[in-house]
Amino acid sequence: MQILIHSADAEQWQTAIAKALPAAEVVTSSAPLQARQRADYLVAWQPPGWLLEEQTGLKGIMNLGAGVDALLTNPSLPPGVPIVKLRDAGMAGPMIDYVRYAVLHFQRDFDRYAHQQGRLQWQPQPLVPKAEWSIGVLGLGAIGARVAQALATEGFPVHGWSRSPKALEGLICHHGKAGLKSLLGQVRSLVTLLPNTPETRGIIDAEALAALPEGASLINPGRGSLIDEAALLEALGPAEARNADSHASSHEARPATGHQGRLRGAVLDAFPHEPLPAESSLWRHPRVLITPHIAAPTPRDGALEQVIATLKAWQAGEPVPSVDPAAGY
Ligand code: GLV
Repeated sequence: MQILIHSADAEQWQTAIAKALPAAEVVTSSAPLQARQRADYLVAWQPPGWLLEEQTGLKGIMNLGAGVDALLTNPSLPPGVPIVKLRDAGMAGPMIDYVRYAVLHFQRDFDRYAHQQGRLQWQPQPLVPKAEWSIGVLGLGAIGARVAQALATEGFPVHGWSRSPKALEGLICHHGKAGLKSLLGQVRSLVTLLPNTPETRGIIDAEALAALPEGASLINPGRGSLIDEAALLEALGPAEARNADSHASSHEARPATGHQGRLRGAVLDAFPHEPLPAESSLWRHPRVLITPHIAAPTPRDGALEQVIATLKAWQAGEPVPSVDPAAGY
């Protein structure tokens, strides 16, 4: 069996896989063409088109990440080859931390205190209890479900949303189009952890943002394609409009009024084009916190376990749950 690896840390993967599967021939995408051309399995994160085109005998692709969007939208992807993605694999822990930090950024008013510090302003904000800070988590897959349940365990009321009905302990579950609208109307922080599929592209558009209560916040550690950037900037409103707000106007999650500047702030980790282009206004908006797609890096140990189990199962002809290319996840 030949295994071909493509990732930024391909050599480390090569060593680890060769050690776990001593009978396999393990090569990286930087090996000479004749040495890498006849792979049975590809283990990769965002493989380039030329690499996919070279391979004619692939029997499976192991995606070194949770999202398979980059692979499924690659025009050189050979049709019919099963794709297996990582499921949690240790990513949920860091993701829970990232989302917790972002929620607290707003619930504990760190955004306002940062602004106040710039103005040498000593102004305590009244604390909104966790029990009154409802959170919406869109996407209840392996990672989204764990994030939602972790926040619920900490005392936040958590609404979860998925395409089809789900029942998860500790969560108020919604589904479908009507369910999304109902969720949006009642959350102070909205967390987007959906995969990038034709159905989810632009799901957070002007209408969705207008459905959020005034003063809500957006946290996107999922995919940039989920958010309509122009609508987001419009919902945030002018850079200066809200930061100076005192507790009096921002304390209540008020019903939608539709006017500009109703979104309190956003914490964003994923963008349609990465790195986020310098000309994006998001970089310069004072109520936007930007991180460079670091919410949940793939941990090699957790991922290795799944990669090896998948390769062994494939080799033994055992069934492995694979991605549904039509659904996009
Ligand atoms: C990262 O973005 C992943 O899909 O794992």
